[in-house]
Amino acid sequence: MTENTSPGPGAALAGDASGEPMLRVEAVHHSYGTGAGAVHALRGASFTVRRGELVALKGRSGSGKTTLLHMIGGLDSPRTGRVVVDGTDLSTLGESELLELRRDRIGFVFQSFGLIPILTAAENVGVPLRLRRAEPRAREER
Ligand SMILES: Nc1ncnc2c1ncn2[C@@H]1O[C@H](COP(=O)(O)OP(=O)(O)O)[C@@H](O)[C@H]1O
Ligand SMILES: [Mg+2]
Repeated sequence: MTENTSPGPGAALAGDASGEPMLRVEAVHHSYGTGAGAVHALRGASFTVRRGELVALKGRSGSGKTTLLHMIGGLDSPRTGRVVVDGTDLSTLGESELLELRRDRIGFVFQSFGLIPILTAAENVGVPLRLRRAEPRAREER
């Protein structure tokens, strides 16, 4: 990793002294496939999200919402442009660091799958906390 000074898990709400936005999406382009058959899913998406800000992303089916969320969650990387989560440029992270980001910092509720049916809603929410071996008490509180 480069000069990443991003705080550890759980520090996201600890204040905003740096003034760094929670999320910066900068001129993100992404396409699927190549040549004449390429689908340009994102053509220069740019925006920032402040700490604690609630944002809804709207657009018709096929407009690139899921593609953009995959970029922000480190599940896929843009062809060009940058995604910076809490000061960390995701392009500087290796696979295991991206895994930690997804486990500790980014929560995804997928449209059509991802819940474990034998667990309660609260237990499902607690799964990533179990994976990072959070104390049961801290997990319950969260
Ligand atoms: N894995 C893929 N391979 C090829 N084309 C894809 C793939 N995923 C999405 N697309 C295309 O990219 C565009 C954006 O899709 P998507 O990000 O899923 O939009 P939304 O979530 O807004 O419906 C669409 O034209 C879609 O068909
Ligand atoms: Mg979608």
